[in-house]
Amino acid sequence: MAMASILSWGIMLHWKNKTQKSPQQTTFHCSQVYNPVFEEHKDSLEEGGVILKSIIRETPKSNTPTSLKTSFTNNNIFLLGDNLNALQFLNSNLKHAIDLVYIDPPFMKNVSFFRHVYFRGTQKDVPFKQKQYSDTWDLESYLQFLYERLVVIKDLMKDTGSIYVHLDEDAAHYVKVILDEIFGRENFRRQIIWNTASLNVAGFKGQIRDNYIYATGILLFYSKSDVYAFNPQFTPHAQEFIEKKYKYSDEKGRFRVTRRNNTIYLQEDPGEPITNIWNDILSFNYAKIASRESVFYPTQKPEALLERIILSSSNPGDTILDCFGGSGTTAAVAQRLERKWILCDANPHAIHTSSKRLQRIITKEETGTSSRLFQIWRSQETKNEIQKNGAKFHYVKNENKITVSFEDLNLSHPDEFPKLIELIKDHPKISLVDSIYFSFSSEELNESSFNIHYSDIPRKKKGLIHKSYQFLLPKGWRNIKYLTVLLYDIFGNAYTQFYNTET
Ligand SMILES: C[S@@+](CC[C@H](N)C(=O)[O-])C[C@H]1O[C@@H](n2cnc3c(N)ncnc32)[C@H](O)[C@@H]1O
Repeated sequence: MAMASILSWGIMLHWKNKTQKSPQQTTFHCSQVYNPVFEEHKDSLEEGGVILKSIIRETPKSNTPTSLKTSFTNNNIFLLGDNLNALQFLNSNLKHAIDLVYIDPPFMKNVSFFRHVYFRGTQKDVPFKQKQYSDTWDLESYLQFLYERLVVIKDLMKDTGSIYVHLDEDAAHYVKVILDEIFGRENFRRQIIWNTASLNVAGFKGQIRDNYIYATGILLFYSKSDVYAFNPQFTPHAQEFIEKKYKYSDEKGRFRVTRRNNTIYLQEDPGEPITNIWNDILSFNYAKIASRESVFYPTQKPEALLERIILSSSNPGDTILDCFGGSGTTAAVAQRLERKWILCDANPHAIHTSSKRLQRIITKEETGTSSRLFQIWRSQETKNEIQKNGAKFHYVKNENKITVSFEDLNLSHPDEFPKLIELIKDHPKISLVDSIYFSFSSEELNESSFNIHYSDIPRKKKGLIHKSYQFLLPKGWRNIKYLTVLLYDIFGNAYTQFYNTET
C-alpha cells in the first residue's frame, strides 16, 4: 500500500521497499549509424526497381563511434534497453546535458499493448497481433519503477531544464507527490489537461453507460529551478472574435482600438494565449490524424502535442530526452524543430519503428550535410539476433554498377506463429519484407559498424519495397570491398547477406 507521510519539510509518499537504487554501470554500444550516401536517380529500373547515385564523392567513412559523448556532438541517439540502465549510462557520459524531458510511461492500465502485423503489397490482413509491451503492475512496483527513473532524470537535466510527465487518472495523483519530492513543490509549474475528445465524442459513446466519458490526458510540468525556458504559445483567434473586435481597417489592414486608445493590427496579434487546458489537439481516436501520422505503434501520441511542449519549453539547438520513446514522436518533432534528441526504449520494435520514421524525415529534409543524423546504441542485455544468409538476392557487379535484387526469404522463427505459416505460404515472399538497408565498407562488417548508406522503407503500411537496386559507385571510391544488405521482415526479424565487391 502507498501512504503519504507529513515531514517537517513537506509531504512524502511511502510504499513498501521504496529505495533509490545506487547506479549500476551497464554499457551500451553503437549498433547502427544512419549515414545516407545514396539518393534515388530520376530514371527507374524495370519492375519498380531503383537506380541510386552517390550524393557524396568520397568513400563512405567507417564512422565507428568511440564514445557516446563524441557521437552526440553530431548525431542524435537512440538507446535500446531498459531505461534505468540507459539513464545511468547517459549520466556517466552526458551529466546535466538535458534541457527538456518528455515522458509518456506506461499508465498502470494493467493491460498489454499489441501491434497489428501487415503483409506488404496485398490487401490480405495477417491475423496476428504482436505484443509490444506490458503495463501490468501493483501500485508499489509501479511507483518504485517511476521513482528510481525520475531521480536519475533529474540528475541528467540542466539546472534550467524542464520536464513533462504524461499520465492519466490512474497514476497522475501519486506521481504528482513523487515529483514534488524529487523536484520540489516550488518547481511545480502546471498541470495540463489534454482533452482527448475535444472535437467530438462520437467514438466514445460506448463508455457512456455507467460513468462520464474519460477524455483526459494529464501532463505534469516541472522545472528543475526557477530559471527555465518558456516561450508562450498562441492559437489563432476565432473568426467570430475577429469580426467583433477588429471592426476597422486602413491601408495596413484590420485593426482595433483598445480602451487605452492603443491601435492593434490583426497581423500583429499573435492570437489567444494557450491555457493549461488543451482542447485543440486531435488524439489518435480520430481517423484524420491516424491516417496522416500513424506508424502503427500502440499508444502513439500526436505530433501536435509534442510540438506544443517543445516549442513552449525549449529553443533550437536544445537537447530533448524521452526515455519511453515508443514510436519516436518526440524525436520526429525535435528533429523537425532543430532540437537535439536522445530517445530510449526497451522494445526493439519501438526503436526499429522510430528509426524508420526518422530516416524518412531526414531523407526528406536532407539539403546537404547540415541535418543531424542519428545512431542506435544497444545495451549488452539486448539480444541482436540477425539471421545470416536467410535472405537471398541476385547480385551482379559490372564495373562501377552493382545490381542487387531480392529473390527469397527463409522466414526465421516460424514456430512462433504456427497458424500463420500456412497463410504465409500463399504469399509472394516479397510481401513479408518490411524494409531493406545497404551498407558499403572496407572491412567485413561486424554488428557494431553497420552504417546505413541507403534505406528502402515503404511509407504506406502495405507499400512494397523496390525489389531491385542499382548502385552507381563513384569512380574514385577506394577500398570498398564489401556490401552488406540488411533486411527486416514484417515481424521484425533481421537478416543479413554479405557480398565481396572485389570479386
Ligand atoms: C506509452 S508508450 C510511449 C509512446 C510514445 N510517446 C509515442 O508517441 O509513440 C511507452 C513506451 O515505454 C516503453 N517502456 C516501458 N518500460 C520501459 C523501460 N523500462 N525501459 C525503456 N522503455 C520502456 C515501452 O516499450 C513503450 O514503447
